[in-house]
Amino acid sequence: MPERPEIVFAGTGGGAVTDIDDYVAAGGFNALRKARAMAPDDVIAELEASGLRGRGGAGFPTGRKWAFVPKPDQLPKPHYLVVNADESEPGTFKDREIMLRVPFRFLEGCLIAAYGIESQHVFVYIRGEYEQEFEVLRDSLEAMRKADLLGGITVVLHRGAGAYICGEETALLESLEGKRGQPRTKPPFPAIAGLYAAPTAVNNVESITTVTPVIEMGGAEYAKLGVENSAGTRVFSLSGNVVNPGNYELPRELVYDVGGGIPNGRELKAVIPGGSSTSVLTANAIDTKMDFTSLVEAGSSIGSAGVIVIDDRCCMVQLGIRVSQFYEHESCGKCTPCRVGTKWVTQILQKIEDGRASQTDLDLLLSVCDRIMGKCLCPLGDSDAIAVLSYVDKFRDEYQAHIDLGRCPFDGDSSIEGILAPSAIHEQHGEAAHV
Ligand SMILES: Cc1cc2nc3c(=O)[nH]c(=O)nc-3n(C[C@H](O)[C@H](O)[C@H](O)COP(=O)(O)O)c2cc1C
Ligand code: SF4
Repeated sequence: MPERPEIVFAGTGGGAVTDIDDYVAAGGFNALRKARAMAPDDVIAELEASGLRGRGGAGFPTGRKWAFVPKPDQLPKPHYLVVNADESEPGTFKDREIMLRVPFRFLEGCLIAAYGIESQHVFVYIRGEYEQEFEVLRDSLEAMRKADLLGGITVVLHRGAGAYICGEETALLESLEGKRGQPRTKPPFPAIAGLYAAPTAVNNVESITTVTPVIEMGGAEYAKLGVENSAGTRVFSLSGNVVNPGNYELPRELVYDVGGGIPNGRELKAVIPGGSSTSVLTANAIDTKMDFTSLVEAGSSIGSAGVIVIDDRCCMVQLGIRVSQFYEHESCGKCTPCRVGTKWVTQILQKIEDGRASQTDLDLLLSVCDRIMGKCLCPLGDSDAIAVLSYVDKFRDEYQAHIDLGRCPFDGDSSIEGILAPSAIHEQHGEAAHV
């Protein structure tokens, strides 16, 4: 098996480094010292040279994002670094492991990033359910404070209250300000008017953690790891019908190899490569390289690198229902195509699954998806449409069979039969849908 370089999890030996002395003994905080000896602009230049692209989903170059933040003398307001640790994309669970296993590398990255954009204030917006991760970060931060490493920078750990939409950067900022978590219209972008209408960089946990090794090894060295447009490694979350689910830090291949294949002698049917928001790929695309460019060429996207493996027992109509229920439930309701459209998509899919649909319902499903796409304030509505359209496109025969047979061809044997979204479970139990 080819070599598997570790950057994010380097030095952990498969475990965690949660003792500050162990971290320092292994060279911890050298990158911070190195950065503080540089001019802030040079730190940004190293990030630009590294080619690091955001790991939260959109893949925007990290160095370029920081360069958009005006200098304090250009815009004399407090500057903020906000770290997105809200991790809620179905199929994605890497950031929690990063915070648990390399908390100091992550916090060191926060301090370097703050230095680069000349900010004195860091907010880490952490998913509310991440209790243990919060405690590890709190303790690590305290150890750094005692070791006098913060350099006057305040780091606030802010716990979210459990809404997927608060992972969208502007909804996150609203939530941090104590308002309802709904996306803002853009422009202005956060770099100019972010938290409290002041210059703000918003970055994902993995992006910020990678900043530490980028400064340590130098941007140009980091850029050599990986391929053009996809520098470095990714932490892939592998789930679904695989023998070895888990998080794997990899270059752009091997996902299937480390996963150990499909359990119980079943066949691979499909792969969702970048979290539930990305288009599904069929089994014959399994050799697609897992980098930004290759996945776009294959008709999908690397997204948040949450790889969901689907075997031949999965009914793709049921999968569509499950995914659409999620987006319907998580829609913040601000725009009509998303608020109403995601509900319609779920309802039409349910009709198809129940064997009550006619040919026009399939046409209607495609039409509703089309009327969501590109007509919403943020990408949440599009995510539902993109996912469902890809299931219909790649597995049209299966959708048609439901209509022709007037029932689900899996006859109750689908692997996701009865797996419902929490919202649907509430409804089944007669509780309010949005609790
Ligand atoms: C509905 C929605 C949910 C999102 N959830 C997350 C999330 O949980 N974590 C994350 O880092 N980015 C999430 N994003 C992307 C962020 O808006 C933003 O692009 C990212 O935090 C920027 O960091 P990066 O440049 O380091 O990737 C989400 C975007 C959308 C539209
Ligand atoms: S697309 Fe959906 S989640 Fe996004 S702002 Fe509109 S209603 Fe809210």
